[in-house]
Parts: sequence; C-alpha cells; structure tokens
Amino acid sequence: MAGIPGIRLADLARELKLSAPELIKALNELGVTTAGATSVVDSDTADAVRGLLGAPVPTGKIAEVAPDATVKDVATALGIQANVAQKKLMEMNELVAVTQRLSRPLAEKLAAAYGFALKIKSEEKPVVAAPKHRAPSGTAQSRPPVVTIMGHVDHGKTTLLDAIRKTNVVGGEFGGITQHIGAYQVEVDHNGDKRKITFLDTPGHKAFTAMRARGASVTDIVILVVAADDGIMPQTVEAINHAQAAHVPIIVAINKMDKPDARPDRIKQQLTEHNLVVEDYGGDVITVPVSAKTGEGIKDLLEYILLVADVEDLKADPSGHATGAIVEAQIVQGRGPVATILVQTGTLRIGDSIVAGLTYGKVKAMTNERGEKLVKAPPATPVEVLGLNAAPGAGDTVEVIKNEKEARQIAEKRQQKQRQTMLSGSAKRMTIADMSRQIQDGDIKDLNIVVKGDVQGSVEAVIGQLQDLEANKSESEVRLSIKYSGVGTVNESDVLYAESTGAIILGFNVKIESGALRAAERDGVDVRTYNIIYDLVADMEKAMKGLLTPIYEESPLGKAEVRASFRTPKGIVIAGCYVNDGKLARGAEVRLLRGNDVLFAGKIDSLRRIKDDVRDVAAGYECGVTLHDFSAGYLPGDILECFEMKVVARV
Ligand code: GTP
Ligand code: MG
Repeated sequence: MAGIPGIRLADLARELKLSAPELIKALNELGVTTAGATSVVDSDTADAVRGLLGAPVPTGKIAEVAPDATVKDVATALGIQANVAQKKLMEMNELVAVTQRLSRPLAEKLAAAYGFALKIKSEEKPVVAAPKHRAPSGTAQSRPPVVTIMGHVDHGKTTLLDAIRKTNVVGGEFGGITQHIGAYQVEVDHNGDKRKITFLDTPGHKAFTAMRARGASVTDIVILVVAADDGIMPQTVEAINHAQAAHVPIIVAINKMDKPDARPDRIKQQLTEHNLVVEDYGGDVITVPVSAKTGEGIKDLLEYILLVADVEDLKADPSGHATGAIVEAQIVQGRGPVATILVQTGTLRIGDSIVAGLTYGKVKAMTNERGEKLVKAPPATPVEVLGLNAAPGAGDTVEVIKNEKEARQIAEKRQQKQRQTMLSGSAKRMTIADMSRQIQDGDIKDLNIVVKGDVQGSVEAVIGQLQDLEANKSESEVRLSIKYSGVGTVNESDVLYAESTGAIILGFNVKIESGALRAAERDGVDVRTYNIIYDLVADMEKAMKGLLTPIYEESPLGKAEVRASFRTPKGIVIAGCYVNDGKLARGAEVRLLRGNDVLFAGKIDSLRRIKDDVRDVAAGYECGVTLHDFSAGYLPGDILECFEMKVVARV
C-alpha cells in the first residue's frame, strides 16, 4: 500500500468522532494490526473503516452483499472475477476457495482493496458509540505496557535491554545489585509524567511462543531488534511472524547505528517486503534508530513505546484479586520454588493464596528486580514470589484463590486432569492421526501448515504448489492454511509455533534440529521433511482428504530367550522366558524368532512373574509369556523381540 495517499489516523478519528484507541480497534477488526499513533491510514483502509462504521464514504462506491457471502459473491458485487478476488486474497496471505464464505473483516478488506465500502444486506449497522470490546470503564486504570524484545541472534537484544535499564532508572538508584528475575520495570519521564514500562527480560521467540502456547498473552508490544549492519535475517522474519500471529504491535529498533556500515534504509526497504510497511514508505510501522552501545536513540525508543501504549489504551483494574502469568520459575537451593509473576489484573499481596498452573501456595515474600521487598503488586508489575509448593511453567496462569486449602484442591485437580490427558495421549495437540480423523468427520476445516525450506526459492515453490492444491480442491477437502514460512532448518521455535497454532511442519531440503525433534516428540507436533516436491504434494493431497497417516517406527524395548514351553490345563501355551536385554512389557509389540524366521508378530497378552501378573519384566529375570492368538508352541532358543511403535517425524 506504499505510496497511496492517506489520511492521518488522528484526523480520521476526528472525522468519525472516535478516540484514537477506538479507531485502532476498528482498524484491528479490518485486519490492520500495526497502526501506530503517528500512522497514516491509506485511503482504501480509511474508506473501509468508514464503511464499517456506517459513515459516508467519499467515493460513494458501495458493494452490497449478503451476510454469508462467498468469495464469488463478493467478487460479483465488486464487479471482478472470482479468481481475481481469490488472488488478491492470496496477496493478503489468505488462502480461500472461491466457494468459501468470507468472514466480514476479510470481505471488508477485499472490498477496500478495490475502493469499495462493504454493506451487508439487511443487517443493522453497528452502533459506533458502543463497541463492545472497549476497556471496561469502571475502575480500570491505565497500566504500564508490557514489552518483549525479539530479533535475530547477535543483533543486540541483550545489550539493548541492558542499555534501557541503565539509561532509565529515574532517581539513579541503578548500580545496586540487580538480580535477574525475568522481567523488570523502568520509569521514564514522559511529558513531565513519570511513566512505567515493563520489559520481559526473556528475549527471544521461544519464551514468547512458549507463553502463547500456554495461552498467556502477556505482551502488549514487541520490539523487533534489527542490526543496521546486518539486515533482516531468518529469525527476524520468524519474530515478525510470531508477533503478527499474536496481533501485537511491532516497533522496529534499528540497532548498531554507531557502526560505520550501518544501513538503516536498506532495512526499512527489507521490512516493507515482509509486510511491515514503515512510515517512510507510507506505512505505519515505527522504526527507531538506536545504538545499544552508545545509548543513542534509547530515549526515543521509550517515547515510542509509551506512544503506542497510549494508542492501545492499556487498562487494568487494580482492585480485587490478582490474576497474572508466570514469566519464569525455578527451584533455588535454600529458597525453594522461586517464580516471577507478571500481575495482569488486580493487585497481588503478601499472604495471598495462589494457584499457578499445577502448583499452589501462599505469597510469602515478594521482591522486584532490585531486590526491594514489596507488599503489593498492581497490574503489569513483575515480582519474584516465594511460597509456591513447586516450580510452575513459564506462561502458566496465576490466580488468587480464597484460601490455601482451596488453592491446593484446584492445583490437585489440575494435576489429576493432566495425568489423565497424558495417559490418554494428550488432548490439545494435533497429530496427523487426530487430524485425519477430524478431517474425515468434517470437524476441521483448516489444515494449518508451517513451511521451512533451504532457500527462499524452494519455500516459494512449496507455497506455490500448496496454493495450486488449494485452488483445485473439492468441496469435501479441507483448506490449507499456511501459518508461517521461512528459510532454514526446522528449529524448536518452529515446533512451538506449530503447537500453538495446531499446525504441521513441512520441511523442504532442510534438516530438523535435534532440540526441535525432541520438542516435536514431546508436544506431538508432526514434522515432515521432503527432498522431492512431488512427495510433499502427494502427502498434502492425502492430508486434505484426511487420509494422511502417521509414520510409525519401531522402538526396541528388549529381548528374551525362550527356555521352556508349558501348557496349562485349559490348553493355553506359555513360553517360559529369560529376559536378556531391556524389558518385556504387557501389551507391547513382539516378534517371535526361530533363527531368522519370524513365527509370530503381534502383541504380548500376559506376563507373569512366579504367580503374579505383572506389567513388565526387566533383564535378568524369568517370566511366563503368552502371545495374543498364538498357540503353535515354543522351542528353547526361540527369541522374543519386544518393541513399541512410535510416531516419528518423517525425515
Ligand atoms: P543472542 O542473545 O545471542 O541472540 O544475541 P543478542 O541479540 O542478545 O545480542 P547481544 O546483545 O549479545 O549482542 C551481540 C553483539 O553485538 C555483542 O558483541 C554486542 O556487544 C554487540 N552489540 C550490541 N548492540 C550493539 C550496538 O549498538 N553497537 C555495536 N557496535 N555493537 C553492538
Ligand atoms: Mg542475548
């Protein structure tokens, strides 16, 4: 949208008789997520907002569609071909079939792209004066913004956090012993007011995504650090994707400006190629040149953070019981479980009984990052808390409960539930098998995908193929929704991202990092890598029909040798075995080998030690084994190979 003349956000707000935050909310509904205070809204978007709010559109072009209009219907109303509309939507990163119903914001956006305002037939216009999602007025008060710093390795995230900390501690008490508590607050002089900003000191996408995966949306603003001498790198793109998926506004800090080879203009241009249109190019993304080394620009950066915070109109009610999120937690020798909690609503006080994820306790002591003891912590305050019974996980929610007994009961219930889900193979995560079933049952409509490739060219080739599949799909097939794509090996952050969006990962000509493989196994995320695009396409064709099956691999459990064969009075044949290696387990897969011949392949029915039924038998013990549906008898020297079938990443 670069270069299209527009209207300043403030002016448009005045015209529509809205406050800036209300206008931003309306823009968000149209999918414009990065609007900043100093933004210019391009004229198409402005018209779309006017349309959305029922205000007169200067051009007078109005397209009228039914509430359940498909892409085709909207296209017809706009006087364009359905496939042209579809292509336009693809440019907006939306893969939609022409026969598919368009959501209202998307329809508005599409219409706006052609200079139309959308009117929904026989539907009441929204009442401008009362958007339902406005911050609750009552006792809600402004609160400090919570900021996360993200960016590529070595671009200066840590140095920038340090610089911010040093430049901004009002009163100059900095220099004392600060401790790392995973988050800290700075106080800034802003137009004569002292204003606080909370930084999550866990830079990186991993923390951000892990928290989001647990449902903790704690970050209000993302600072994207890009080194001026290096430019946009794979993790920069990753960060952009994560922030955009979370609908969090991004401020770009162009760092290392002190370097002679700093080229900020190149970065601005590169950003534009990644859907972040900076102000110089007519967009609304704020960029701030800084040097974490010399301190240049840091004050400006803080100003912009506050400006964006004002536009976002961040509020929370400090009265009442606190809720919050765990930033990080660990067991510290001599202190027990130590958790950093970011208070989100209400006020946390000493003595409060709390539940945090699967843990519970009473707030015994609270300190800030300067080691100062606090008795209460209002919204957006990060505090280190002692008193939990165990270390909760980052991103776990925190709640104040009436008393400790109830807190314990809630935590115990959650633990029990967790055990059950673990036993039943986890609920939320989306394995290929679950997905296939749900697609066949018609329960899911989207197959979410993350694409990683060795070079941009191959990523584009894969996306191109997927879009072709999408364009030619039949009614019964699910739509492919590419959540994110990038260059490089499949890493842990990709897996976390895939988990949080219920996506599968397709790698083309890339490897899976070992940490990512572990995470994928742990979280049940399906990662598939391919070297031949045809195979990838063939698998996705199956997936769209719900026919893609998981790939299993044998994971050996143990070996036993048959020493004798018995027959019970009821005629059941039992193999008397000695376990040489690993273990035998009831219900596990087993192969009976005589020399090189496989006599039987199936499951272990029962397993006995002396007279007792047991679940498994370890190496060095004797046991009696019966195999499911096998009665042919055993010979001494036969070997039982016991194994499990595990779902594996396709490599
Ligand atoms: P990771 O945590 O490894 O992802 O890196 P990071 O983004 O935290 O980068 P870090 O702050 O560790 O900085 C990387 C290197 O860049 C260090 O050697 C810093 O001294 C240097 N550096 C950071 N900011 C600046 C800057 O503004 N100017 C210059 N000249 N060097 C900088
Ligand atoms: Mg660092």
